Amino acid sequence: MTPPGRVGRTRPQTNTREPIIQEPEEPQPLEPEATRRPADVAETSRASRGWWDRNADEYQVEHGTFLGDDRFVWGPEGLDEVEAELLGPAEELKGKDVLEIGAGAAQCSRWLAAQGARPVALDLSHRQLQHALRIGTQGVALVEADAGALPFGDSTFDLACSAYGALPFVADPVRVLREVRRVLRPGGRFVFSVTHPIRWAFPDEPGPEGLSVSASYFDRTPYVEQDEKGRAVYVEHHRTVGDRIRDVVAAGFRLVDLVEPEWPSWNSQEWGGWSPLRGNLIPGTAIFVCVRDERDE
Ligand SMILES: C[S@@+](CC[C@H](N)C(=O)[O-])C[C@H]1O[C@@H](n2cnc3c(N)ncnc32)[C@H](O)[C@@H]1O
Repeated sequence: MTPPGRVGRTRPQTNTREPIIQEPEEPQPLEPEATRRPADVAETSRASRGWWDRNADEYQVEHGTFLGDDRFVWGPEGLDEVEAELLGPAEELKGKDVLEIGAGAAQCSRWLAAQGARPVALDLSHRQLQHALRIGTQGVALVEADAGALPFGDSTFDLACSAYGALPFVADPVRVLREVRRVLRPGGRFVFSVTHPIRWAFPDEPGPEGLSVSASYFDRTPYVEQDEKGRAVYVEHHRTVGDRIRDVVAAGFRLVDLVEPEWPSWNSQEWGGWSPLRGNLIPGTAIFVCVRDERDE
């Protein structure tokens, strides 16, 4: 079975070339083994930090142009917050305290700052945040922390957002959602995007081979890449659509929308298993729009 695969980067290709030169080669680190097995909160968090620290450079080279330094893109389909307005009308962002979870190089936060908001870009990976510094902070505060333990007081932010940051990766999404709800002021909104759960039933291939169901959609066993000692080096956690909705409700949010962006005709790029071919047939991203109600304690 081909596993669902990585949000972070394109699956490594199998090398089918015959060796031409017989000279001794530098010992290469072994490719991690891809499997499905349980992975708890601690193992997942450790693997994520290590993987994003090691792969941030490659991620930014590969996807930085598409993301743009100061655009707010919700996923590989290219849905832009300018048109989507999932956080509300752009003119109402001015003066708002906004938390971005799993911000990477803080591209979305830079866009929020340009609208007059006061964004805080939080990420687990030191190297991703170094890319944020390299591009420029321009009104964005950077915080290195795990989304499962937010280093902020209660009711600190008006809005929170996350474009594929943290939620696809964490073992305990309710813990993250509860933390986000805690730091939001009553009436605050949290919008987050993840890999559309249906993708877990298909191989993570951009071509036609990625169109035939190869695994159970209902199998929640995490996708894990592990080293030769069996230590996880990359983890993604699967939740069905129903699981995600239950998680949002269990954390005390009200779900007000679930957006499934359609693949636009202008977008010809592939991003790992996301491609125009598949994007025109099956959803690739799910965006959950959640509200902490005013009357909530
Ligand atoms: C696919 S990248 C998305 C980054 C950015 N939003 C973008 O669109 O490029 C996922 C990010 O989530 C971060 N991340 C993963 N697990 C996290 C966690 N538990 N807490 C905080 N950030 C996390 C990673 O370090 C990485 O920067």
